[in-house]
Formats: sequence, C-alpha cells, structure tokens
Amino acid sequence: MPNTSLSSAYEAASSLVQPSAKKPYSHMARRCEELLHGIEVADADVLEVGTGNGFLAHYLATYRNVRHVVALDEYEGHGSARGNHDMNLAMQKHLNNSDVVDVVRCNFNTYTSDHRFSHVFFVNVLHHMVPSSEPGTSDEATRILRHASGMMKQGGTIIIQETSPINLCPIPKYREEMRNVSFKDKLESSQWRAALMAAGFDHIQLRYRLPLNLPWNPFLRRCFNSYVASLLTDSSYVLQACAASRT
Ligand SMILES: C[S@@+](CC[C@H](N)C(=O)[O-])C[C@H]1O[C@@H](n2cnc3c(N)ncnc32)[C@H](O)[C@@H]1O
Repeated sequence: MPNTSLSSAYEAASSLVQPSAKKPYSHMARRCEELLHGIEVADADVLEVGTGNGFLAHYLATYRNVRHVVALDEYEGHGSARGNHDMNLAMQKHLNNSDVVDVVRCNFNTYTSDHRFSHVFFVNVLHHMVPSSEPGTSDEATRILRHASGMMKQGGTIIIQETSPINLCPIPKYREEMRNVSFKDKLESSQWRAALMAAGFDHIQLRYRLPLNLPWNPFLRRCFNSYVASLLTDSSYVLQACAASRT
C-alpha cells in the first residue's frame, strides 16, 4: 500500500538536501496554498518550470487533483540547492505517483513538448533566467514567456511568483530570514507584465502575497495586497495571465 502522505514523503526525503535548504513542512504547504489562492487546477495538465525539490508538483498531485504535472528543472546551479533532484525523485518514489508527476531534468530553454499544458508555473525561477543586471532583459523575458506560451492550450493560465527588487521589511527576524535574497537582481512586476503582453498573454492579474506567517483571512489579504505593504513584508508578488493565442 503506497504511503500517500506528502508530509512524511517530505520529511523522509529532506535528509538528501543541505540542512540550510530545508524549510519546515508547514511553511512549504502554506507557501503552496498562498500561491494557489484563487487558482483552480483540478484535472489540469501542468508544467512547473524550475521545480527545485518538487514540493509544489507533489502538492498539486497529492492535494489538488491535477491530471498530470511535469516537474522540470535543469539542476545546474542558478538557485538550485544541492540534492534537490534526488529529493524530488525520493518524494516521487515515496508517494508512488510517477503516473501523475513526471520529473524532467532539462533546461527550459531547450525543452519542447507535443503536449499542450493548461497551467504553467514559474515560482521564484524567472529571475535566475533573466537577471535584471544583464543587458537585453525585456527581450529575453519575452522570449522565455513566448516559449512557454507555445506549449500552452489556448486560454491556459501562466502563474509567475517573483520578488520585487526592493525590500524594506523593518522586522529584524524576517530581515535575517531574507538575508540571502538578492533583491537587486529582480524585476518589477511591471516589467514582467510588459513581457507577458509582448508574448501574447492577456487578462493579466497581479496580487501581492499575504505574508505566510499571517492567518488566511480575507480582510488581512485586502490590507496586504498592495505594493507598499508588500515591500514592508517579503516583497513577493504573483502574476497570473491567460494564453490568448499560440505564438
Ligand atoms: C530559487 S529555485 C526555486 C525552486 C522552487 N520553484 C521554489 O520556489 O522553491 C530556482 C530553480 O530554478 C531552476 N532553474 C534556473 N534556470 C533554469 C532553466 N533555464 N531551466 C530549468 N530550471 C532552471 C534552478 O535549477 C532552481 O532549482
């Protein structure tokens, strides 16, 4: 009988990564919940680019009834913690879900698929592919998003989580937690919005993440869903857009 508990799969596989890369299960699950706020994925065909340890992909398979998810990562540096690929495979084995989760080791730039995805996720990965410090940023951002669009169903949804290039969080505890985040390498949401439009996406929506340490509450969500509140917390935002036509 397969063990279907994501938390036990995560705990069992966590020994494969460096201790500094291991976050508590409750944090990982809350992060997925927050990312997926208002996003329906039941029965979806998902591509997750830059999956890292694969937690989101396994969360989608375990709790959100997706039909299929390709958990893609090149695992060649660029934000990749050592051991993440092994951890992803270990969770897949523990959960016995290889019929739903496909772990693919590949650079997204060279990845092609005959499959058309209904949902494509880029969670904290695009800034590794398009650092703000390099020239030609907007063309490169558009090229990557167009590549994603070419693999999507018409009307499919792209979901991007990124961090603003500024952070003004006054709370020492959180500043300490974010000390390894290189904010200056990140693009503003307006730059990703422009790249999404240039790549043929429409119905673009932006929301700022409710801080993960706060309880799920609609009033708090409204209060924290602003640029300024975001800069004073963790500077994370989520962009969602619709693949209008194949490019
Ligand atoms: C900061 S980690 C984010 C991991 C995961 N999405 C998360 O939020 O926990 C960025 C990931 O993107 C991957 N990555 C960077 N550039 C990539 C590319 N061109 N193709 C595939 N994966 C890439 C890295 O290997 C790394 O695992």
